[in-house]
Amino acid sequence: MFDKTTYINRREKLKQKVKDGIILLPGNDHSPMNYAGNTYRFRQDSSFLYFFGLDIPGLAGIIDVNNNEDTLFGDDATLDDIVWMGPQPSLKENGEKAGIKKTFPLKELSAKLREAVSKKRAIHYLPPYRGENKILLYRLLNIPINEQKEKASAGLIKGVVSLRSIKENQEIKELERAMDTAYLMHTTAMKMARPGVFEGDIAGVIEGIALSSGTMTSFPVILTKHGETLHNHDHSNKLEKGDLLLVDAGCESPLHYATDHTRTIPVGGKFSPLQKDIYQIVLDSQIKAIQSIKPGITNLDIHIKACEVIASGLNDLGFMKGDVKQAVEQGAHALFMPHGLGHMIGLDAHDMEDLGENFVGYNNEVKRKNIFGTGNLRLAKKLQEGFVITVEPGIYIIPQLIQKWEKEKKFTEFIDYEKTKSCIGFGGIRIEDDILVTEDGCRVLGKPIPKSVEEVENIVQG
Ligand code: GLY
Repeated sequence: MFDKTTYINRREKLKQKVKDGIILLPGNDHSPMNYAGNTYRFRQDSSFLYFFGLDIPGLAGIIDVNNNEDTLFGDDATLDDIVWMGPQPSLKENGEKAGIKKTFPLKELSAKLREAVSKKRAIHYLPPYRGENKILLYRLLNIPINEQKEKASAGLIKGVVSLRSIKENQEIKELERAMDTAYLMHTTAMKMARPGVFEGDIAGVIEGIALSSGTMTSFPVILTKHGETLHNHDHSNKLEKGDLLLVDAGCESPLHYATDHTRTIPVGGKFSPLQKDIYQIVLDSQIKAIQSIKPGITNLDIHIKACEVIASGLNDLGFMKGDVKQAVEQGAHALFMPHGLGHMIGLDAHDMEDLGENFVGYNNEVKRKNIFGTGNLRLAKKLQEGFVITVEPGIYIIPQLIQKWEKEKKFTEFIDYEKTKSCIGFGGIRIEDDILVTEDGCRVLGKPIPKSVEEVENIVQG
């Protein structure tokens, strides 16, 4: 974890933002896979990590805003725990690492909160996403599970989002620490993308790279020759010459900062002429978007610019027609790029998504557009120095979507359906990097993973 002053300062800033009441931040506990003693790999809650730094199950933190008091609740390891898991630091020692002097057994959390409720003090909590913590909140605060999300504290959510969105220098270093592993994962996938190899062979190796770096992937690996399915986690296909292999994968740093990159690879080492043309459009769109990044511009504007490059390129190839700006404004390009340009990244791959996408990506200035495609944009608001975001345009040939739109005669003035249908089976192309917004522009984080047509072909060909 970072030095304890980091966590003391962050909690202090949070108190200034929330102003009144008690902030309850439960950490995560072990989560059973198929029986209590056989658990998923432990992953701490990201907001708990941000304010307390302790990567240990079974803890909860309370920040008393009015009394300027931070308390950690948890239990010391029993002898039985030590027999099975080895010696553990005491709760007191863990509290000291996070700059907290007051520690209590977990069972006292309930009494502490009951006392606050009886005094009619506001208790702020974040929307829970794990079953265990929903049950905990029900037990502690008697809030029915189906009402917990809407009763979560908007003031606390906004305070947490405003702090976690601006990355500290030490957080940027930590993000970059994971980028070396991300580079190795993606370049290894490129070298392995040969006919006869199964998707699962490559997925296993690159997940192994993340594990052997001492951490884990930042989300389940997407590695597929059916890249037209945006989040395809099936790895059962055998690669054949001419396939496009889409790899969307990342790892965590030791302190759980995430990377998220996508590359699309020609199996066997040579793009076909059509693959190359479409790849180049996606790459041009990504480069244009990255060149536009600076504080003060909205990510919605950048998304629109990127989509215009896609629509213009598809016009040149005959898949689309008509006025590019109008086509994008009305959402016709979303047949080919149904997702948004990107999202924030930090302690989560989709940073703070548990707190609500509208709190993280939108505000009073920039409201979500209610149209297919652009409506899926996770981050639309103005960029600020210190944001770290992904830029990930793509082009996909999705048979079911094409069939539906054609039947509905949707956007016939902008889409050539005959030409588009002739490419069914093409798959999908996405290219993604992680970008830091700087004072006057931006910086692509990490060692550049090959992405030009020539660079990718060369590395696949070895
Ligand atoms: N890279 C996975 C995602 O953004 O959803």
